[in-house]
Amino acid sequence: MNYNIAVIPGDGIGPEIVDEALKVLNKIGEIYGHEFKYTEVLAGGIAIDETGNPLPNETVDVCKKSDAVLLGAVGGPKWDTLPGHLRPEAGLLKIRKELGLFANLRPALLYKALKDASPLKPEVIGDSLDICVVRELTGGIYFGERGRSEDGQSAYDTESYSVKEIDRITRVAFEIARKRGNLVTNIDKMNVLESSRLWRETVLEVAKDYPDVTLNHLLVDNAAMQLVRDPKQFDVVVTTNMFGDILSDQASMLTGSIGMLPSASLAEGKFGLYEPSHGSAPDIAGQNKANPLATILSVAMMLRYSFDLENEAKAIETAVESVLDNGYRTGDIYSEGCKLVGCKEIGDLVVDYLK
Ligand code: NAD
Ligand code: IPM
Ligand code: MN
Repeated sequence: MNYNIAVIPGDGIGPEIVDEALKVLNKIGEIYGHEFKYTEVLAGGIAIDETGNPLPNETVDVCKKSDAVLLGAVGGPKWDTLPGHLRPEAGLLKIRKELGLFANLRPALLYKALKDASPLKPEVIGDSLDICVVRELTGGIYFGERGRSEDGQSAYDTESYSVKEIDRITRVAFEIARKRGNLVTNIDKMNVLESSRLWRETVLEVAKDYPDVTLNHLLVDNAAMQLVRDPKQFDVVVTTNMFGDILSDQASMLTGSIGMLPSASLAEGKFGLYEPSHGSAPDIAGQNKANPLATILSVAMMLRYSFDLENEAKAIETAVESVLDNGYRTGDIYSEGCKLVGCKEIGDLVVDYLK
């Protein structure tokens, strides 16, 4: 089969990690007889530098004509003083909105070989950890009205959710739970926020269609604490855009590093944008130090969710496991006795271990 993929390397470590992911995808194409065609487009800081716009129209057009999108990361200190709507991050938010990517899946999976890289005690982390954060991605405070007062002495951002938005993300979470541990934990702040009260009411309504799935609720402050105290209580987590942003970074660290956390941002149907959950890591950019595994694992998610190529997706995940089992590590997941290698070497190793 032929697949058209829009590729957005972006800023900082973005181009380095995307290169490694494409290496892996090319090898998959070779082994399984698929042709992946890439169209590279601009977004983020590099797009600002080259076109004055963090998300040129051409990028949106190319993405809409593609079967899926692969993105590295955007942003960096160079663009930090620009007004909000002209920042690299505004380009990322716009692309999510324009492509209708309302469901952000962030699976925090602890690979056995990385038990030592987790900051939690072995007795807390146990042998495995497998949490899927389902984050609403095109609503909430990220997209509500915002601004400053005329005298510049106050500013506001608004959190707003509709029943329709809550309903559809909750259904995604329940459907995923059915294929996993049959447990959904809803996380909100219904003791304070009206939008959270509507959120919880809607989740309870949707749950009636999934009587076979257990539903729990946690307030977000308690959830942050529980993730560290007893992360094994979680299976699928469903939450808002902002809470999901924060809690997924936290969950990633339980598995050793944010450099291990892939993501799929899905629209209705099969279309999706795939990117690591981390950012452009300006502190290590251009040094061959970045962990490319989150991006490589995001490509596995692309094969699974957008192209229905489950065997190919598993092959990547197995190869990643082999690289880790054989002791190869980038700095972020390094522990004593392991072999410290760079971003490129990890990409090459995953390719080598692909069968
Ligand atoms: P970050 O995720 O870029 O980095 C946080 C820390 O984690 C840094 O110490 C970094 O070196 C480390 N890290 C991140 N990814 C890594 C990897 N693959 N391998 C090894 N170490 C890794 O978060 P930040 O520093 O808060 O943000 C930097 C920039 O990235 C900001 O401009 C921010 O807006 C942007 N950002 C973009 C995205 C995205 O494009 N999806 C996501 C988050 C942050
Ligand atoms: C992420 C990032 C983005 C977000 C930023 C860069 C807009 O942190 O993808 O997690 O907050 O969604
Ligand atoms: Mn984030």
